[in-house]
Amino acid sequence: MSKLAIHGGPKTVQESLAQPWPVYDLDDEARLLDVLRSRKWGRSSYNYFNQEGSKLFAFEKAFADVHDGKYALSVSTGTTALETCLRVLGVEAGCEVIVPASTYIASASCALICNAVPVFADIDPRNYTIDPRSVESLITPRTRAVVAVDFGGMPCDTDALGQICRKHGIGLVSDCAHAHGGQWRGKGVGSHADVAAYSCMPGKVLAIGEGAIVMTNSEALYESAFHYHHAGRERGAESQDFTWPATTLRMSEFEAAMGLGAISRLGEQADRRFANLKYLHAGMEQIPGLTGLEIDPRVTRWNPFRWHFKFVPEEFDGVHRDQFRKALCAEGVPCGIGPTKPLYTFSMFAKGEWGKTGCPVRCPLYQGPPVDYTTTHCPEAERIHTTEALDLQHTILLGPRKNMDLILDTFRKLRSNVDELRKIDHA
Ligand SMILES: Cc1ncc(COP(=O)(O)O)c(C=O)c1O
Repeated sequence: MSKLAIHGGPKTVQESLAQPWPVYDLDDEARLLDVLRSRKWGRSSYNYFNQEGSKLFAFEKAFADVHDGKYALSVSTGTTALETCLRVLGVEAGCEVIVPASTYIASASCALICNAVPVFADIDPRNYTIDPRSVESLITPRTRAVVAVDFGGMPCDTDALGQICRKHGIGLVSDCAHAHGGQWRGKGVGSHADVAAYSCMPGKVLAIGEGAIVMTNSEALYESAFHYHHAGRERGAESQDFTWPATTLRMSEFEAAMGLGAISRLGEQADRRFANLKYLHAGMEQIPGLTGLEIDPRVTRWNPFRWHFKFVPEEFDGVHRDQFRKALCAEGVPCGIGPTKPLYTFSMFAKGEWGKTGCPVRCPLYQGPPVDYTTTHCPEAERIHTTEALDLQHTILLGPRKNMDLILDTFRKLRSNVDELRKIDHA
């Protein structure tokens, strides 16, 4: 009989490795009821200058404290948070915004929403985050900002990126949608950038329902973000004057109530995930063909939304990454492919249908050479997506140590059955 579950053998993992998510407790229920009964359900229920008593205000303050930032503003989604970051940096028609090739669509669509042109940088094969060398090679007089994504929660090299951005006078945005609670050089992710965005939708490591945070150390950028998310009214303005053609992105008190519980649990959860992934990295050192991403010593805490790791085809005796992945899933270890296809291969970019005006990429205000995303090529992002990357979702890393041992046992079992792995159809 076959040893592998995919060929009818016994599964290594019998019970689900994924832990329940999102997490809540009786205090969350009490806080929600408190908001309900208070009849103060939104920001306008409080004085905009003095938000004492507001759960939004308390959540923003707790979020900024945990992430070592000065100002945090709650908004409606991670996508609108990124849009807000670009707006406050002055991104508009005619600008270019450099974004990583491997990320979620919002990290690039935020530029399009501002009528700017996304330019794709390659990722660093050591840790799958945006490669500062690629960023520098793409800077033009039209570049207004870089969106650096802490992909899978791995903090980017914000030292190198910050230096490049300062040298060229452009803004640095951290997209921390995967990285809440992570730390770079002992300080919260996002605090090293000009402005940062953190999605808090239900799957994320800080889950509150829907919503997001914009964080910055600059009072001017904070005021500008507040202005933008509040329909173009300045904070605390008594008059009803609207001074910016903006939008409304306010979070409700209910989500902030959930945020207070989530932020209080974040540190412990992040420590547990980081300890478990380091244990997996150490275990993989004995398994040829599997390896963890390189953790820069300046990464003082990696709180992975997705724990990406590497399948090394040259060390796996002719097995393809997708054969390994299928067999792993069949054994009871749910495993994904890691980084998505490079964003420029999605039809939005590849087809290049930009509407009647052609904006933003064929906008008359755009003075760059013609943009044709079918010629964009980021070799590392393409190779990593096709043959190398694997990932496990973050709730698995919240499990007990015995679950990490089960994962390592499964890796060893597959490694010692390469002949069977090679028979798997992976087309
Ligand atoms: C890297 C990244 N940025 C931004 C977002 C957008 O967040 P939201 O779904 O809250 O708009 C996501 C969401 O999955 C994401 O993964």
